[in-house]
Amino acid sequence: MKDKGLHTDSVVEKKLTSEKNPNQYNGEALDSQIAEGNNDGSKKLYVESYGCAMNFSDSEVVASIMSENGYTTTRDVEEADVVLINTCSIREKAESTVRNRLTNFKKRKQRQPELVVGILGCMAERLKKNLLEEEKLVDLVAGPDAYRDLPGLIEEVESGQKAVNVLLSRDETYADISPIRLDKNGVSGFVSITRGCDNMCSFCVVPFTRGRERSRDPQTIFNECNDLFNKGYREVTLLGQNVDSYRWNMTSKGEIKDDSQPTTNFAQLMEMVAAISPDMRIRFSTSHPKDMTDEVLKVIAKHENICNYIHLPVQSGNTNVLKRMNRGYTREWYLERIDAIRRIIPNCSISTDLISGFCDETEEEHQDTLSMMRAVKWDFAYMYKYSERPKTLAERRFDDNVPEKIKGTRLTEIINIQQENSLAINQKQLGKIQKVLVEGVSKRSQEHMAGRNDHNTTVIFPKGDFDKCDYVMVEIKTCTAATLQGEVVDVLEPTK
Ligand code: SAH
Ligand code: SF4
Ligand code: F3S
Repeated sequence: MKDKGLHTDSVVEKKLTSEKNPNQYNGEALDSQIAEGNNDGSKKLYVESYGCAMNFSDSEVVASIMSENGYTTTRDVEEADVVLINTCSIREKAESTVRNRLTNFKKRKQRQPELVVGILGCMAERLKKNLLEEEKLVDLVAGPDAYRDLPGLIEEVESGQKAVNVLLSRDETYADISPIRLDKNGVSGFVSITRGCDNMCSFCVVPFTRGRERSRDPQTIFNECNDLFNKGYREVTLLGQNVDSYRWNMTSKGEIKDDSQPTTNFAQLMEMVAAISPDMRIRFSTSHPKDMTDEVLKVIAKHENICNYIHLPVQSGNTNVLKRMNRGYTREWYLERIDAIRRIIPNCSISTDLISGFCDETEEEHQDTLSMMRAVKWDFAYMYKYSERPKTLAERRFDDNVPEKIKGTRLTEIINIQQENSLAINQKQLGKIQKVLVEGVSKRSQEHMAGRNDHNTTVIFPKGDFDKCDYVMVEIKTCTAATLQGEVVDVLEPTK
């Protein structure tokens, strides 16, 4: 399996990020597998996922729907009867990567005309039937809320028609579907808690591709996490575009919808999930600065197994830019939220997302982002050049007028500061002993194993007699800006 953490945006540096962070929007293919194809004559499905953790999680829902309909999956694209590509539209680069991939499959279809090639996810939703009609790249197009319809759509294709379903739903959460885990590591799983987004940040395509925000039934979330724990998983990441706006049986104003049913907000949901076992780590992504409450921070502080790590995208350090971005907070508001985190959760790691060269961004405004980086000192950052997306508010209202070259130099300056900050933060860990969840053999060395600490930083240590899913105590000896290295000083017994 390829590394999900690989950012392919040219200047986004992978080494500044933790290797298995869920906040990755990358355009990198992950060849997925369902229960490995047995030779029972069933049809074979090959799924490839691009984009954020939501898409990886959705591909697991797709795998489940397809397996209910008699498909087994394969890692070997050559033996596939159906190929589904789950796509991302977040930046132009993400879409061009997928287009290249689809062009390859188009060639393949010349040799194997009966192969069904389908496009799923955000690009499917954005481009709708254009991919079928104008570009003739695929046989099937299914948007993020149409996956239950996939078996039917495939039948349509097999009967010689082109099939499209891009209807967005106000209530589809796939709550009852038990995802088939495609990631074979068996340590860490993603669980979606909301779908869609109601925020309308002016640069962002997600509200158009994923539709309105809706929350999933908390009991089904609990059951899915509990099931992961029973299968041996030791970490779960709760996913939503804005996890802080999770609410069950409540309007956005906090009014109760149905008196006879309990209500649940994000803080309460985390408490429910944290109760599964002290050995089950809870992570979550993404937090939104305008909605992250002290109540949530207190729940994180209270539970040892909720990781002290918050991904809190700021996008820019300048209030006017934030206003043009329609983010709903100011620089000062964000800094106050950082203070709240540091006050309520001592020793919490914080990461962010930053965009360089948004519409009309002046040099002074950019300098505010740099000064904010020096002030906050985020542990990690995902850093991007602004990429204009069709139909977004920014595309309609503003000019994408910062020259590409300036976007590039500003991004380099941002990356350089982040590099310094990440290195300085990691250097402070030298000599400390940290609890690490073992994930497996290191990707870079067969002689080492890798896992992550509570903060989500990758920790490498010499291979010993450890298994994945063990918790080990590691004394940190050396570091880079991206990883810590050390030696295991203790292996923890599972909690009784
Ligand atoms: N829901 C999350 C982010 C989802 S998109 C949040 O609100 O924070 C992930 C990241 O991609 C964003 O935080 C932003 O930094 C980046 N991004 C989104 N649209 C972009 C665009 N048009 N150009 C460049 N980066 C973009
Ligand atoms: Fe996009 Fe903003 Fe929603 Fe995040 S909160 S998905 S950036 S619109
Ligand atoms: Fe990409 Fe859609 Fe996720 S645009 S970042 S796959 S929500």
